Amino acid sequence: MKFIEVKDLKIEFTKIDESGREVPGKVALDGISLDIEKGSFVAIVGMNGSGKSTLAKCFNGLLAPSSGRVIVDGFDTAEEEHIWDVRKRVGMVFQNPDNQIVSSIVEDDVAFGPENLGVEPKEIRRRVDNALKRVGMYELRDKGAHMLSGGQKQRIAIAGAIAMRPECIVFDEPTAMLDPKGRASVMSIIRDLNAEGITCILITHFMNEAEQADRVIVLKKGKVLCDRTPEALFSDRDMIEKAGLEMPPAIEIRDKAGLPEHLTTAEDIADYIKQSRSGRAADNCSN
Ligand SMILES: Nc1ncnc2c1ncn2[C@@H]1O[C@H](COP(=O)(O)OP(=O)(O)OP(=O)(O)O)[C@@H](O)[C@H]1O
Ligand SMILES: [Mg+2]
Repeated sequence: MKFIEVKDLKIEFTKIDESGREVPGKVALDGISLDIEKGSFVAIVGMNGSGKSTLAKCFNGLLAPSSGRVIVDGFDTAEEEHIWDVRKRVGMVFQNPDNQIVSSIVEDDVAFGPENLGVEPKEIRRRVDNALKRVGMYELRDKGAHMLSGGQKQRIAIAGAIAMRPECIVFDEPTAMLDPKGRASVMSIIRDLNAEGITCILITHFMNEAEQADRVIVLKKGKVLCDRTPEALFSDRDMIEKAGLEMPPAIEIRDKAGLPEHLTTAEDIADYIKQSRSGRAADNCSN
């Protein structure tokens, strides 16, 4: 079932010319059409400036189309009267955790979204506790948000989005400012949320993250360059080059080491190497 439908979406920013008049400016999205299936996990990748963040903002009505349409669960994001119906359904998590923290205490921060939706206090308490438990931050609920690491802050931002009970969460480079441990924990939360039925849209520059999605949409200069499974994308070096992307590190290592092509993740490769080593060890014993 379709959850988001994007039809011929164009976003043209305006600029102010020398005489102070507003004139057409950058075309950031140039005729995008795509559907996001309910419950799916979709990655969006592309070079800097290809339009990823602009598209993300269209998914929850932060930006209205210059032309074309974005329909979320039946609601047109361009219709003012439905903007909260859209925002309630599609949560956003951005790159910089510091810009997303609005209250000094962790649990107050998570409560901010549902408070704005007018949820009653008892229900807010339930939602906040539940959201904090889901991101593994319940124990730190009464701590000062400024005390937390970048990864922990990002988990709080995710808890804030979860507490609004959205059907879909759009993550715009949520791991870009985190260390490897923070990245891994955010990715594991995203996978869990998707396994629980939340539609997840992940914008990322890390190809090993895109690889974890069901489907990867590649943007180039405001257009969809290709839209396929990660397996199909990452077995096509020409396409990766055309998109200005890189192969996931595990696949680079696999190909440099001449390992079989069915190995696509770091785990697969590690298992394969362990097995071939123990196979060799067994051979040595029998000789
Ligand atoms: N508010 C704005 N006003 C004018 N131009 C903008 C605005 N926001 C984005 N742009 C331009 O639109 C294009 C797409 O930008 P966008 O931020 O969507 O790219 P992106 O794919 O998210 O890039 P990055 O990987 O760097 O985050 C860029 O050329 C950018 O400079
Ligand atoms: Mg961006």
